[in-house]
Amino acid sequence: MPLVRGFQLFCPTKRGCLGARRATSRSSGVTVYATAKRAVFITGGNTGIGYETAKALAAQGFRVTIGCRDAVKAGLALARIKEAFPSAVLDSVPLDLADLSSVSDCAKRVLDSGVQYDVWINNAGVMSCPKMSTAQGFEYQLGVNHLGHFALTNQVLPALQTSNKPVRIINVASAAHAFGKIDFNDLMLDRSYDAWQSYGRSKLANILFSYELNRRLRPGDNITVNCLHPGIVKTELGRYMAAETTWYMPLAMGLMKLFMLEPAQGAATSIYLASSPEVEGVTGKYFVNCSRAVSSNDSYNHDTARRLWEISQELTMAP
Ligand SMILES: NC(=O)c1ccc[n+]([C@@H]2O[C@H](COP(=O)([O-])OP(=O)(O)OC[C@H]3O[C@@H](n4cnc5c(N)ncnc54)[C@H](OP(=O)(O)O)[C@@H]3O)[C@@H](O)[C@H]2O)c1
Repeated sequence: MPLVRGFQLFCPTKRGCLGARRATSRSSGVTVYATAKRAVFITGGNTGIGYETAKALAAQGFRVTIGCRDAVKAGLALARIKEAFPSAVLDSVPLDLADLSSVSDCAKRVLDSGVQYDVWINNAGVMSCPKMSTAQGFEYQLGVNHLGHFALTNQVLPALQTSNKPVRIINVASAAHAFGKIDFNDLMLDRSYDAWQSYGRSKLANILFSYELNRRLRPGDNITVNCLHPGIVKTELGRYMAAETTWYMPLAMGLMKLFMLEPAQGAATSIYLASSPEVEGVTGKYFVNCSRAVSSNDSYNHDTARRLWEISQELTMAP
């Protein structure tokens, strides 16, 4: 990765982030983002989109912390980044979003570390799982994708609020939020479980959370909150689908992969929101392909967002 006095060069992937290139590109077509010493925390940074985000931000000079449930995978991921960028400052914190005690331990470590994070990326996720429960008995996809991140973000929020630098919170949602429905009478989908409905609902919750958090920030808070759809990306996210036994699933997956983005391409919007000057001060928005996008009608419902916030608070006992 070429280095230009005080700057590191980041070249967005072939597809995606045209917006970023427009504003900051030079004749070489390479985007240059300034790098003061900044720090980023990324949940699920050991693989897929999170890993590529961690790697690209390390290349830009960010100090990178990844929150991961598997210490071995975290160590291997950091070793790969370190090999590519020997001067990178990297660490990991244990984090299992399916267990609120692990979430609280992670938050405590973050607060005790004294590191001022400039960027906080809630990226980890699971998709289309069979009916499973978290340690606290929450339906698994809502528990991991939404409630775990809700609790973690709220627990570290006081530190982000007292930062003397601008802070960007980024929630990795999905276009799948469009088929999600929040049914407060059956939030854990006990009555009838559908793995895709559960995923869509958890991703809708990510967006409702982003918008509501943005509304709840205090006027003096120097924090922006945005969310995104990364594209359809070739990662390990389909691991639970692989367990499905229909004969056509491997065939369908093989065909789909032909049209999917590579993980580095899928990370482009997260990287853009984390580091581009174009989005300085932009908050409460949904992004696709590094551009502002419109999320589903349901995602803009203030009552649903407020109610989901209050229930999430009760369930996770967040501050
Ligand atoms: N791939 C796509 O096409 C796509 C499309 C739309 C949205 N997204 C979103 O993008 C985000 C990243 O997904 P990806 O595609 O990069 O998938 P991935 O390759 O499966 O990575 C998911 C990450 O989440 C971590 N994770 C899962 N359960 C966790 C838990 N209980 N506690 C802590 N970490 C946990 C995984 O850790 P382990 O390695 O230990 O399992 C992994 O690091 C997700 O939020 C997903 O919903 C992806």
